[in-house]
Order: sequence, then C-alpha cells, then structure tokens
Amino acid sequence: MLAPLDLGWTTLKNRVLMGSMHTNLEEIPGGFERAAVYFAERAKGQVGLIVTGGISPNSEGCVAAMAAKLNTEEEVAHHKLITSAVHAEGGKICMQILHTGRYGYHPKIVAPSAIQAPINFFKPKELSHEEIEKTIDDYVKCALLAQKAGYDGVEIMGSEGYLINQFIATRTNQRQDEWGGSYENRIKFPIQIVNDTRKACGDNFIIIYRLSMLDLVEGGSTWSEVVQLAKAIEKVGATLINTGIGWHEARIPTIATVVPRKAFAWVTKKLKSEVNIPLIAVNRINMPDVAEEVLADGCADMISMARPFLADADLVLKTIEGRVDEINTCIACNQACLDHTFQLKISSCLVNPRACHETELNYLPTQAPKNIAVVGSGPAGLAYAHIAAMRGHKVDLYEAATQLGGQFNMAKIIPGKEEYAETIRYYQRMMVKYNVNVLLNTTANKDLLNDKYDEIILANGVVPRKLKIDGIDHPKVLSYIDVLQRKVEVGRSVAIIGAGGIGFDVAEFLVHHTNQEEEIKTFLATWGVDYEYATAGALKEAVVQKPAREVYLLKRSTGKHGATLGKTTGWIHKASLVANNVQMISDVEYQKIDDAGLHIVVKGESRILPVDHIVICAGQEPSRVLYSELLEEGLNPILIGGADEAAELDAKRAINQACHLAATV
Ligand SMILES: Cc1cc2nc3c(=O)[nH]c(=O)nc-3n(C[C@H](O)[C@H](O)[C@H](O)COP(=O)(O)O)c2cc1C
Ligand code: SF4
Repeated sequence: MLAPLDLGWTTLKNRVLMGSMHTNLEEIPGGFERAAVYFAERAKGQVGLIVTGGISPNSEGCVAAMAAKLNTEEEVAHHKLITSAVHAEGGKICMQILHTGRYGYHPKIVAPSAIQAPINFFKPKELSHEEIEKTIDDYVKCALLAQKAGYDGVEIMGSEGYLINQFIATRTNQRQDEWGGSYENRIKFPIQIVNDTRKACGDNFIIIYRLSMLDLVEGGSTWSEVVQLAKAIEKVGATLINTGIGWHEARIPTIATVVPRKAFAWVTKKLKSEVNIPLIAVNRINMPDVAEEVLADGCADMISMARPFLADADLVLKTIEGRVDEINTCIACNQACLDHTFQLKISSCLVNPRACHETELNYLPTQAPKNIAVVGSGPAGLAYAHIAAMRGHKVDLYEAATQLGGQFNMAKIIPGKEEYAETIRYYQRMMVKYNVNVLLNTTANKDLLNDKYDEIILANGVVPRKLKIDGIDHPKVLSYIDVLQRKVEVGRSVAIIGAGGIGFDVAEFLVHHTNQEEEIKTFLATWGVDYEYATAGALKEAVVQKPAREVYLLKRSTGKHGATLGKTTGWIHKASLVANNVQMISDVEYQKIDDAGLHIVVKGESRILPVDHIVICAGQEPSRVLYSELLEEGLNPILIGGADEAAELDAKRAINQACHLAATV
C-alpha cells in the first residue's frame, strides 16, 4: 500500500511514478541491456515507481511486426535484466501490457469489430468469441510471466484508443454478442482481464489500470460510463487507477507544448470521490511545483510524469535535495521522443540526448583539462559549454547579446512554446554551477580568440537569408527577428514569405491575442473539449477567438503547408492556423513589394496582397564571417549547431551534436 499522503517536497518520491513510454529499445539487438541501464538511472534518481513501455501479450497485439511482446518463457530472461537493475537501485517497476488492437502497424491486427482506424492503413480482423477468451488468457499469462521476470506489478493499458478502449466504445465495438451492445457487455473485456490477473498473480502484486477518462472522439464514453467502469475495476482488484487522455485518432492535442501544464488534472479530480483506490493524474505535469499543485488541489493521489524523466533522470532526487532550479525540464516538443517512436527510431530527448543512450554517451571527468572558447549561447553553445565545463575543462562563453539563449529567446515568446524559457533557465544555472566564464555583450573576434585557447567552438548561429525581390527595402518589409523581439509595431494584415518552422511560429505569434486569462479553460474551449463533460467523448464545438490579424502564409514550393513540421505536432500547428483563418498559399512567385502591398503570381495568376507588412521567414544561412577570419589566422575552429548546418533551425540536432563533441573533448 502507498505511504500516507503528506504534501511536501521530500515526499514526492512516493507520489511520482515514471509513466509508460515505448522507446523502441525493446526491439533492437542489445536493447534490453540498454533499457536496463536507462531504467536503473531513473530508479537511482529516486522515482518511486516506474512503468515500462507497452509490451504486447501476443503477436496480434504488437505495435509493429516483430515488436516487443511477452508470451513465452524465453522472453522472461530479457525482462529480468531490467527488473534486477531497477531493484539493485532500490526502485520498483511495473510492466505495461498493451494490446494495440486496430492501431498495430502490421497485417495481423484484430479488433472487436472490423472497422479500420482513421490513422492506420491496415484493417483489423474481427475477433471471434473464442479468440476474445484466448486474448484475455494472453493478458493473464503475460502478467504471470512479468511476475516471474521480477516485475513488482503490471499496468493494464485501457486507454488511448488501444484494444481495451476499442471494446468499450460503440465507435469501434458494433458486436451483437455478449461482448457488444450494452455498456455492461462492452466493459466485460477489461473487467475480466483485471479480475483474472488479480486471481492469477495474488494480492502482493501491483495492478495499475490505465482508464480512458476522456476519449475526445465521437462515440466515446460518457462521464457516467467512466465512473461505472472505474468502480468495477476497483471491485475486481486493481491497486491504482491511472488516467488516460484522448485516443490517438483524436484531433485535440493532449501532450504537445501547446497544452498548458496540468491541463487535464481536472478530469482525474472528477473521479476522485467516486472510488477508494488511489488515482494517478497525467499529462503535462513537468515540474515538481506543478505536481505539488495537482496533489494539493486534491486532483489525484499520485502523479505520472513520463517525458520529464527523459529530460532529467534525477528529477525527484533534485527535488528532494532542494535543487529544483537544476532540473532539465521537458518542454513537450515531442521532437526526439514521440516523433522518434512513431518513426521506429530509438526515442531520446531534445534537451537530454543521453536519454535511452546511457550506455554510449557519457560525460566522464577529463584527464587533460583544456582552455575552451565557445562563441554563441544558443542551445548548441550552451550545451557544449555545460558538458565541457562539467567534465573539468575551463570554458569561456562569448555572447554578443545581453542574455543567454540565442534563438530560444524567440521561441519562448511564441504562444504555446513558453516552456522553452525553462531550457534557458536550466543552462543559466549550469553555467553558474560549473563555473563557465560567461561574457555577455561581448562580440568575439580574432584578437580575443587568438592564442588563448586549446579549442574554439563556434556556435554563433545563423543569419536570415536575403531575399532578392523588387522592393525588399520597402518600409513594409520586416525581419522575423524584429517582429519576435517586438522591436516593430506590426499592422493588422500581414503576408509571411516562407512557410517553414519559423514562418509557422511567426504566424502563430501574429494571430494570437496577448494576455489570455484562464489558460486551461481557454485551451479546452479553443480545441472543443467539453469541460462540463455533458457529452459522450467530452467533445463540443470549438470556440475560437477572432484572430488578432489577417495573415497569409506563403511558400514558393508546391504541396501542402507544414510537411516539414514534427510528425506528432505538425498537425496541431496547422490546425491552429487554419482555425485562425491564416490563408496558406503554395506555388507562389514573388514579383515586388510597393505601397500597394505584396505582388505575387500564383499558378499563372497575378495577385496583390494589400497587406500592411511583409515578414521575411525565407530561411537562414550559417553565420561564417568569424569562422573565415579564424581560418585565415591559422586557427582551427569547430562549427556546431546552426553555424554548422542551417537548413531548418534544429535544436535537437544542435544539442545532440554539442553534447557528443563535448563528451570527447
Ligand atoms: C515516446 C513516448 C512513448 C509512449 N509510449 C506509451 C506506451 O507505450 N504506453 C502508454 O500508456 N503511454 C505511452 N506514452 C504516453 C505517456 O505515458 C504519457 O501519457 C504522455 O507522455 C504524457 O505524459 P507526460 O506529459 O508526463 O509525458 C508514450 C509517450 C511518449 C512520449
Ligand atoms: S524530446 Fe521534447 S517532449 Fe520529448 S522528453 Fe525531450 S523535451 Fe520532452
């Protein structure tokens, strides 16, 4: 049983679990050995309970062909590597059992009814009655094998639109037999799984049930159905109920950075008085103070943090030791975690490239300290300076601006990207902690850098690409830097030239009103989530404020806008701009700019966009002037980040490159 509830930093260990994340480590040769080290580091970092990524109870339920499953004795040995490593650090770990149903990416998928998911090109086969009973047995067998492998318990995945959810909702269950029809029939499948698992595994085994408290799809559960299921799950022996928010096919963001912190804790709170077993709140609870607020508000008994443990394995330890300002915060970008998982690559973390790479990227103390100059304090420069100094090198960090952070200072003011400020805060703290000599307002030049250093690292970023078009010097033309730094007053109608990541960000910045109050309720209303939960699936018509400006987002290339944005977040940025009436035009030839506005030709037809301003977001080029000067001096500078490769501004690549280089200098 859990420790009695007691709020306060030091008790967070007992109140925080590391949420389930499929990282693809389980699918690669040697992956279990790597996963063991990855989980053990988190256990050492004092997280109370860990849940593994989803493991299928049979081959039909796998995420992809040959993906991780546990239904044979031979597979137990792999899992023992994980459990013994976690137990050696004094941690506890549950294995998640996840059957994908119609979400699996392979031809053998099954579901209660043969209805294809809108996000999958495979169509499932309908399970027969006998196959349903066998599937339940497979869950139980899987739990028994997990117990044999040394897990402290299992989490039965009943949310996010996977097989169990598919049985529960009429959207996906149109059976006429005893597993379909009435709600009682549709929830028999999860109830029997939990019931039989408890009987088979005995009392001294944690069973977490991840319950879909908010489906966010048409034909989802009503609130009274959610309550009925929770009570039934409690009755048949679950130890804890975890929260699931939104099916994968839902068109409402549930974990991306546009989702305010603790945006869904209210749903768990709604269930709190209905059951007696502890409840776990989830999603976008990324810092200890947010976790404390959720607990203090009585929303839940425990907090699940998933991605925050990719960003920082020591989150709980740092909290216990009063070092909250040293936590490397998850910024909910999804760029190196969920995007990788869906691309079948090993997950990691944009702000912590060691995540899931603990056996191959290590920051060991140097035996030969060097004098190092780092020029530029964007993500690449900061990451390099941090790791090099932590390893014992003497680092001078040159920054021409008045503050650290480079392009992240612009990212953090884009609506929905405020979390980027946390990364700057983290690095500021690391500069102090590891005695990096920070030289603000200092433009590095060959005289400053000559002769003094063993290594010169140029992380001085990019310069916006110059566009060749008649009228480019017209006063209507603005640079995105001046716009985002609020150095200019932008008019009511704007054309943005260039629809890459920066063009999208600038459009988002320009259509939003400032000072939105009631952040969570505004977010829910904007995306059409029914906070009153009066409808099935908790959906209602979205309420979008009139955009602050009329915006055109233009690009030269053909094809849809947003194709280069993140796999799991691109659709959110696009949907937001569509809701704000941003007009997206492709295949544009730019003719000239004058008092009348921007003259363009689209598919052979001439148009004038009578806009107040034109913002240029037409890409950027590496900043190389200093590099050339240093080469001429016979020095050997190393380029990193945007100064090395500027195609798209890519913080993931920049930090990853910086950390790898600093690990070996
Ligand atoms: C890379 C990745 C993989 C995930 N895999 C699973 C999974 O296998 N099972 C599951 O229940 N949830 C999975 N999730 C969802 C997380 O458990 C969690 O609900 C989500 O990340 C939001 O919580 P957070 O804001 O604390 O990260 C995954 C999330 C990520 C980022
Ligand atoms: S990649 Fe982004 S979302 Fe994923 S864990 Fe790291 S910071 Fe969080």
